[in-house]
Amino acid sequence: MSTKSPSKLFINIVGIGKVSSSIARQLKGKTKFGHILSRDRAKAEQLAKELDGIPVTYDDDFLLDGIVLFGVNDSVLPYIQQKLERKVNNIIAVHFSGFHSSAIFPEEWSPVSMHPNCSVADEYYSFKDVLFGIEGSEKGLEIAKKIVKLVGGKYVTISTHDKALYHLAAVISSNFPMALAYLSLKIYEDIGIDNENARKIISTLMESVSKNISKYDLKDALTGPVKRKDWKVVEEEGKVFKEFFKEKYGINEDLYQQFVKILRKIVL
Ligand SMILES: NC(=O)c1ccc[n+]([C@@H]2O[C@H](COP(=O)([O-])OP(=O)(O)OC[C@H]3O[C@@H](n4cnc5c(N)ncnc54)[C@H](OP(=O)(O)O)[C@@H]3O)[C@@H](O)[C@H]2O)c1
Repeated sequence: MSTKSPSKLFINIVGIGKVSSSIARQLKGKTKFGHILSRDRAKAEQLAKELDGIPVTYDDDFLLDGIVLFGVNDSVLPYIQQKLERKVNNIIAVHFSGFHSSAIFPEEWSPVSMHPNCSVADEYYSFKDVLFGIEGSEKGLEIAKKIVKLVGGKYVTISTHDKALYHLAAVISSNFPMALAYLSLKIYEDIGIDNENARKIISTLMESVSKNISKYDLKDALTGPVKRKDWKVVEEEGKVFKEFFKEKYGINEDLYQQFVKILRKIVL
């Protein structure tokens, strides 16, 4: 592997997206950059200029060595090895997917995945205090820990075998609340609260739940009828749920019962 600088990590980038550009910008001045690879030459040139790297496209002649940050989409990751045939020397391959494990890359790439648990909506995101889930080869993990530290983040280490479960947990916490928000919104709209105010109510409620979870154990963070053991209220609201959602949306009351069951597990 390249030893371009004894003290600074030497980093290449493959695929200029929101996560890879944001990470690279946070690393600027703290690491050295090599090749900045994109399908779009202009994009590669722009980022390479900022980072003092070498812009390349897939058609150019180049050889990647050192650390390579793969910022491509999850659907592209399985094919990127083919795309880079004969353009890779001795690398440590880092990707950011929550879904794929490091095993998506060959062992000889000393692979590691470092998944930021946050929503990266632009190319200038700061990872300060963001918790990364990391897993992979020994060499890769060593590098991932250094990168996380350099961008001001934190990490939890998981096993490669548990990556799919790890991602499921993130989906439950970050996507399922959207489904619940949809259900609340339908009720608010039905009773005449405008969309903007309805979203405001939902986001305020969710924000306070989120704050409570960060401060207290779930048992202490929970509020509402199940926490208060107001079982009559729980039963009556079950009937309301059944009536409202079955009629218009075909959603079964089992959903309500399942959530109550889970909440009881927290309380009891
Ligand atoms: N955004 C988030 O909130 C978030 C959070 C956690 C983890 N992640 C993970 O981070 C990784 C990157 O996500 P992102 O949000 O940064 O994606 P993105 O902004 O959509 O960028 C993905 C990049 O992949 C490259 N690409 C797309 N199609 C390609 C193709 N057919 N062939 C080769 N390259 C292609 C493109 O780079 P070029 O145009 O330069 O070739 C594109 O800019 C994913 O694994 C994702 O799961 C994202």
